Amino acid sequence: MIRKNKQALTALVLAASVVTSGFSSLSASAEGGDQTVHWTREQASNIVLNQDNTLPYTDIGKLEKLAPGYHVWDTWPLLDRDGNIASFKGYKVIFSLTAPSDVLPGKVHDIATIRYFYSKNGKDWTLGGELFPKGTALGSRQWAGSAMLDGDQIHAFYTATGREGEKQLTYEQRIATATGKLVADSKGVRFENWSEHRIILEPDGKYYQTKEQAQQGEGGGYAFRDPMWFKDPKTGKEYLLFEGNSGGAVGERALEQEYVGSPEYARQHSVPTGAVHANGNIGIAEVENGDLTKVKMLPPLIEANYVNEELERPHIVVKDKKYYLFTDSHINKYAEGLSGPEGMYGFVSDSLIGGYQPLNGSGLVLANPPANPYQAYSWLVLPNLNVVGFAHFGNLDGMSIGEIGNQSPEFQFSRFGGTLAPTVKLSIKDDRTKVEQQYDPGWIK
Ligand code: FRU
Repeated sequence: MIRKNKQALTALVLAASVVTSGFSSLSASAEGGDQTVHWTREQASNIVLNQDNTLPYTDIGKLEKLAPGYHVWDTWPLLDRDGNIASFKGYKVIFSLTAPSDVLPGKVHDIATIRYFYSKNGKDWTLGGELFPKGTALGSRQWAGSAMLDGDQIHAFYTATGREGEKQLTYEQRIATATGKLVADSKGVRFENWSEHRIILEPDGKYYQTKEQAQQGEGGGYAFRDPMWFKDPKTGKEYLLFEGNSGGAVGERALEQEYVGSPEYARQHSVPTGAVHANGNIGIAEVENGDLTKVKMLPPLIEANYVNEELERPHIVVKDKKYYLFTDSHINKYAEGLSGPEGMYGFVSDSLIGGYQPLNGSGLVLANPPANPYQAYSWLVLPNLNVVGFAHFGNLDGMSIGEIGNQSPEFQFSRFGGTLAPTVKLSIKDDRTKVEQQYDPGWIK
């Protein structure tokens, strides 16, 4: 059990009228439409580390660098149009956010560049170079995304963060795409003939918070990023999942019982006022008529108001006709009065839209071990249930992530992974998951 004792702030006690409003622990959101499900405080309060969800300890100092000369973090594989790992002339391809290895770990997000790697055995990766020709991608830098191959055409989706050429770094996030041609020959793997890059999604302010809304009043985090292409095998329709925040300014979101949990739980648990800052959500948009540059925004699949501020890199794996929706979050993104590890969280539903229930009762699927709480992050579940993540910070001797930036550059570099973490095998049975096995770092089987 890793519950922190945060100081309870002024308690907001729920009005009895709200408590008795015919609530179910997974009721739909009033504003979000019927499909939006709340990850409740009650569910998140069940988070417990155990044998089934806790990762084996990784000694970060012993990992070989995937790309000497570069830090590597968020990584995704090239998928085919059916959602399987693509194989092109015998090659697998992965994409990673990267930055030169002399950049301090805390600064890598400011200059993130997507580079690609290719491999025949899924273990030994060759760095191919930058995915896009210099100066063609949108944003002042590019954050996480996804990629799908149709024939020899790659459809790349990414987060355009900031604006091209901006003097002062901004954190605006928009979802962008470009199409190119994949070539593999005796010289290796490369991309050619890129189309113009286009912005295809921006926050609408209703379901998904805009940067301006995030800056209003109480302020808070802001996210509109990490587009993950997904094809529903039941209908053949294509979608993009993404990380967002609930629309509106956080100060204007009154506490609802449906954010808290069952009437019994809500009666017995007060909610600290500071919890209002948490408004993470998982967004979805539908591709219209198979044209990947035209997507229609839909209400979020999950909202974590008063629960968690960031639901990162959401993605879905279909197994036994069920939809398993996974996302990553950090220790310090939990709302006041709740706690959870740097981990991967998951939900299951019989349909793509609506009905998601947290896996394992709480949502927790993978957690770093308490002795190395930041050892890995940004996990992605592949279609075969292998999970790829990156090695983050290790051997910190109890130091919190916020203190790392105050240490010497030598300290920071020596504790930063910046490469792929051991691949992990997950098993799933209905709404239960288990860490089964660990393989070599970055192995895409
Ligand atoms: C997760 C993440 C992503 C984002 C990227 C930026 O590690 O926060 O959500 O795209 O890092 O570097």
